[in-house]
Amino acid sequence: MSSSVFAVVTAAGSGSRLGHDTPKALVQLAGVSLVRRAVDGIRVAGVDGVVVTAPPTHLGEFEQIFAQEPDVAVVPGGNIRQDSVYNGLLEIPRLAKRIGKELDERTPVLIHDAARCLTPKRAIRDVIEALESGLKAVIPAVPVTDTQKVVEPVGASSKIEKVVGQVDRAQLRGVQTPQGFHWETAMRAHEAGRELLAQGVELTDDAGLVEALGEDVHVTPGSALSMKITTKLDLVVAAEILARPDQYQSLMGE
Ligand code: CTP
Ligand code: MG
Repeated sequence: MSSSVFAVVTAAGSGSRLGHDTPKALVQLAGVSLVRRAVDGIRVAGVDGVVVTAPPTHLGEFEQIFAQEPDVAVVPGGNIRQDSVYNGLLEIPRLAKRIGKELDERTPVLIHDAARCLTPKRAIRDVIEALESGLKAVIPAVPVTDTQKVVEPVGASSKIEKVVGQVDRAQLRGVQTPQGFHWETAMRAHEAGRELLAQGVELTDDAGLVEALGEDVHVTPGSALSMKITTKLDLVVAAEILARPDQYQSLMGE
């Protein structure tokens, strides 16, 4: 059992698909902002210190939210999520020192989207416990429900595509956060990620950077509640879930 756990909560995006005037992480869901929900949710799962990446334009507002919480540091995010995560990781040693918690090569570090603010404790604990058992990279994921096809465009101007292949749905997983790594693995993967970006290669998740190093990534059960709030519809669905405590409780147990 490791003595400490850290997290980076990525909240520096604008939320262009949600379409609010404020950054997405400041949008309220049943009276509480997404970033507040995400930080509190990860804390109750046993995380000792959290670095929040904030949009540089709203840094002061985010600092204000967590001003009374010494276990939370706020740093400016970057242009893309990978830059934000990297900035967040760089702050972890300072935060560890400030709160007097140990940080070593095997310390679990979670990388979590503020947009997945309803992630249940069980899904987070599963990732932490897998890391503490010795696995170096662990991601939560769920089976996909739609049949999946591979397509190609039929012409530059047409909206119609052609099916060129299919994949066995049973083998596919939809990947969520928090993605967890041993501290040394997280840093090494993200340092390599800087190089990949410089070569024009952009990966969409943190585990992809570990896979690019040729190292194993393991999968724990995700949760329907870890849905990423991306569109207006997602916000409506999330509000509806919170308005139905029985449903919420039962989803939390799944
Ligand atoms: N994120 C970040 N830094 C960025 C971009 C995104 O920290 N430069 C964060 C977002 O705040 C979010 C998470 O990464 O919590 C997942 O990103 P996404 O859901 O795509 O959020 P946005 O980028 O804000 O939304 P959109 O793509 O619709 O603009
Ligand atoms: Mg985005």
